[in-house]
Amino acid sequence: MKGEARDIGYNNLKPYKSLILAQVNEDLTSEIVVKPLIRDFKRLNIDGNSEALNGDEPDNAFIYGKTGVGKTATVKYVLLELDQEVKNSKAPVKSAFVNCNQINTTTKILKRICNVIAPEVEVPSTGIATSEYYQRLWDVLNEFKGIIIVVLDEVDKLEDDNILYNLPRARENLDITDGFVSILGISNDLTYKERLDARTLSSFGDKEFVFAPYDAHQLREILDERAREGFKEGVLDDAVIPLCAALAAQEHGDARKALMLLRYAGEVAVERGGDAVVESDVREAQKRLESDKIVETVKTLPYHQRLTLYVIASNDSKEIGTNEIYEQYKAMCEESGTTPLSKARISSLISELDMLGLISAKKFNRGRYGRIRLVVSNISKEKVHGLLHD
Ligand SMILES: Nc1ncnc2c1ncn2[C@@H]1O[C@H](COP(=O)(O)OP(=O)(O)OP(=O)(O)O)[C@@H](O)[C@H]1O
Ligand SMILES: [Mg+2]
Repeated sequence: MKGEARDIGYNNLKPYKSLILAQVNEDLTSEIVVKPLIRDFKRLNIDGNSEALNGDEPDNAFIYGKTGVGKTATVKYVLLELDQEVKNSKAPVKSAFVNCNQINTTTKILKRICNVIAPEVEVPSTGIATSEYYQRLWDVLNEFKGIIIVVLDEVDKLEDDNILYNLPRARENLDITDGFVSILGISNDLTYKERLDARTLSSFGDKEFVFAPYDAHQLREILDERAREGFKEGVLDDAVIPLCAALAAQEHGDARKALMLLRYAGEVAVERGGDAVVESDVREAQKRLESDKIVETVKTLPYHQRLTLYVIASNDSKEIGTNEIYEQYKAMCEESGTTPLSKARISSLISELDMLGLISAKKFNRGRYGRIRLVVSNISKEKVHGLLHD
């Protein structure tokens, strides 16, 4: 907090609250959207001086870039600035930000856009055909006569890409006579475009922006800025930010990872009662990030593979043979009233768990008994139980 006297010791470390909020709060209207450093806003043609404000049709475009390179943050910021300018100039420009990971069907997105343009018009959630949703949108657009900029973040998660064809062509197809719809698609799947058909792609012309990964120097700049908000002055050891930046730069220049490392390092320091964040806290933070990854992996395992992991982990850190695993797995299936998979199938699921690094499997030659495979969990029983009981 600005102007606050500096405490000594434990309280000197303010947990990285501002960052946590910036990451979980996806709401455009929130004040948490920070100005992203480094990215060149002028290249994005929806910035303040854009065609839109002059009443011209803004182009459709795609933004690509790997995860954590600031695509969402930059576009949200640009939209906020645009909103501000629109308020001042009273230009008929509106924007709808859609995260297609959350809203991925055509009808839901059309309803959402209608809502942004004309909040007073009721559009039912169910019971009408997709074509009717389109008609409702054309109606509100014809009434509005302005420009609507639709941002489709994580556009590769769309269930059906007809929206990418129909919205940019609305004028040409005489669906609307006034106003424009412009689409900005964002994706971290660099091959997404190849999956679109030529008709759809041609609406987008060649307009695309690729956000390059950040290098360690840029990541340092971003971290420095955030550290000023998130930590009290002077509590970060000199080595901390460069180390977070270097570690994240190794991993395709992911600013999210860099920020998480810094935040976790702060938490580690607070937990150990330190009065500064030091290099070893960053190393510990990195372990936590890896452990987060394990949690993510376990959560996405299919049901029977989870059961298998559960059996293996329940054996504490003792090795267990495949036969034994299968017997215990079958017993669990019976208990829960599910039909067990075959032994061969479970055997291949075990190999997969090994490849994911969740367990370690070793093969032994047992002479005339043939080869056996002994397996041990790499994650503690408590952790697996905790995760799977969620
Ligand atoms: N240039 C920047 N300046 C300040 N913060 C940034 C910058 N770029 C990214 N960040 C921060 O890094 C985190 C990740 O950025 P963002 O969510 O925009 O990534 P993304 O490219 O959309 O990733 P994904 O493909 O996973 O959605 C956010 O907390 C964001 O605020
Ligand atoms: Mg994003």
